[in-house]
Amino acid sequence: MPAINHQILLGSRPQGEATVANFQFSEAPVPTLEALAEGHVLVRHHYLSLDPYMRGRMNESRSYAEPQPLGAVMIGGTVGEVLLSRHPKFAVGDRVVGLGGWQEYSVVDASARGAMLSKVDTTHVPLSAYLGPVGMPGVTGWYGLVQIIQPKAGETVVVSAASGAVGSVVGQLAKARGCRVVGVAGGPDKCAYVVDELGFDACVDHKAHPDPKAFYKALKDATPDGIDGYFENVGGMILDAVLLRMNAFGRIAVCGFIAGYNGEPTPLQNPALILVNRLKVEGFIVSEHPEVWPEATKELGTLVATGRMKFRESVAQGLASAPEAFLGLLKGRNFGKQLVKLI
Ligand SMILES: NC(=O)c1ccc[n+]([C@@H]2O[C@H](COP(=O)([O-])OP(=O)(O)OC[C@H]3O[C@@H](n4cnc5c(N)ncnc54)[C@H](OP(=O)(O)O)[C@@H]3O)[C@@H](O)[C@H]2O)c1
Repeated sequence: MPAINHQILLGSRPQGEATVANFQFSEAPVPTLEALAEGHVLVRHHYLSLDPYMRGRMNESRSYAEPQPLGAVMIGGTVGEVLLSRHPKFAVGDRVVGLGGWQEYSVVDASARGAMLSKVDTTHVPLSAYLGPVGMPGVTGWYGLVQIIQPKAGETVVVSAASGAVGSVVGQLAKARGCRVVGVAGGPDKCAYVVDELGFDACVDHKAHPDPKAFYKALKDATPDGIDGYFENVGGMILDAVLLRMNAFGRIAVCGFIAGYNGEPTPLQNPALILVNRLKVEGFIVSEHPEVWPEATKELGTLVATGRMKFRESVAQGLASAPEAFLGLLKGRNFGKQLVKLI
């Protein structure tokens, strides 16, 4: 009896908010070595990464990436181990990171040009961290901060979704560069974590201040010298308040607008502030910057291996828990990098 690969496919496109009914469970046999083509590798996934970008891929409309096809395995980053290999560069037992999708196993054509499979060293960095601070989210934080915001010691840097996979990296990297760092996060526990564990100077709880005027007042109190760099993960009310606090020639790295992913994004209240304060506002997609990967992962890997970069994970158990965990991420129910443990 061949082993079974449990999978989750995109069953239907969301109308408004995504629901569990949009996902479809499926299964397929796991191939044997004899059935594996030359150059291919069979990977057993240990963790699946759940990321906000997946919500955009569920829509029909084309964004910076093609929509996820209906009936196909949901896209997703994975880490795991090589179970079978017909490729000389991969041996059984190698720990690997790839784009295996929402399933327990994947077959990768490792000989294909641009194949998404890399070996990782887990001697000093845990395997799951290659989906977090030493993987795509970490490099995202590194790119927006180092390449776009270009922080200088003594400047004030603000980051939203501060306790999350990207935000936590941004804040710690900015602290290491001598900045005053202020996070924005949802709830007292996340804010306490950001200040007490991650070492930010302050954190503004957007849930405690749902009224835009009250939120602005709290942000103003936390940023007495204004804001020089803002790393945008959320949008909506938070961006409006930040724009009112930006110093002249400030820089904004536009990474995400998660507040609008599951419905209608809110329009910017006062775009003229970009001109008035001569701001640099730059959006970016991390996958378009493979050139920074070696430098960024070197710094991030060293910081994680030496305990100078802290990270937190929300781990859902088993593939079947992925849809609920993903929907929770879009509502801020995760606390740190959202993963699904598959083994
Ligand atoms: N441009 C790129 O290449 C790139 C790459 C990776 C990620 N991103 C973006 O980076 C951002 C953070 O991603 P991540 O993986 O690090 O996720 P994350 O921060 O680990 O989790 C998402 C967080 O967003 C906040 N959030 C969710 N829904 C919200 C809402 N409706 N209003 C306000 N806040 C909400 C919640 O934090 P609170 O509870 O603290 O509000 C939630 O915990 C996302 O916008 C994502 O799309 C962009």
